[in-house]
Amino acid sequence: MKTLSLIAQKGGTGKTTLAIHLAVQAQRAGHRVLLVDTDPQGSAGAWWQRRAAAEPALVQGQGTELSGILEQAAGRGFDWVIVDTAPHSSEQSRACAECSDAVVIPTRPAILDLDAIGITTALVADLKVPAQIVLNACPPRTRAREPRLVAEAREALTAYPAPVCPVALSQRAAFSHALIDGRAVVEFEAQGKAAAEVDALWRALAQVV
Ligand SMILES: Nc1ncnc2c1ncn2[C@@H]1O[C@H](COP(=O)(O)OP(=O)(O)OP(=O)(O)O)[C@@H](O)[C@H]1O
Ligand SMILES: [Mg+2]
Repeated sequence: MKTLSLIAQKGGTGKTTLAIHLAVQAQRAGHRVLLVDTDPQGSAGAWWQRRAAAEPALVQGQGTELSGILEQAAGRGFDWVIVDTAPHSSEQSRACAECSDAVVIPTRPAILDLDAIGITTALVADLKVPAQIVLNACPPRTRAREPRLVAEAREALTAYPAPVCPVALSQRAAFSHALIDGRAVVEFEAQGKAAAEVDALWRALAQVV
């Protein structure tokens, strides 16, 4: 069983959006997937309540309860556990990172988000858990070119002790629309650009976890 936690001390970077989409993508790849919502805001749990399908399975609990949740999940035959975490709580984030095989740190490519990422990369580096930064809500690529803002963000992020995933997610309305009735973008618009980006992200991350 593999455990991947989405962690960023800053709010609104895309932790819940990525957790939901990676969980659905892992499930579509044929795995038994548990999505764990450790955020008291309960956004992933609310998404799951709105969802028609029963998979991926979901459980809610505190970050400090994650190790116990993982023991039970291993006993229930899950292949992948994807953990959504709360912003602003280093104690809860640390508890999740500690028992994960890898951590994904989502960030927007904007300067205020990039400035804040050092707190999260330091927390994860202390624990020696493999981590990757994923750029989220980026301006979409034009033809083969990555937009300047994204290229600049990649450059700025070389200062931190975690590699940046080559796949970025763009700012796309599909990410907001799909979540309204408990779907992921691939279930909302299977041939859409957002779905293709999520698929590429899952493939890139699954290789390194
Ligand atoms: N790639 C994207 N394209 C469009 N909208 C996005 C994208 N990623 C996130 N959003 C939107 O940005 C907002 C914040 O995203 P999300 O809730 O996933 O962040 P978060 O890190 O979980 O926030 P919090 O720290 O509050 O838990 C949401 O309204 C979400 O729909
Ligand atoms: Mg969230």
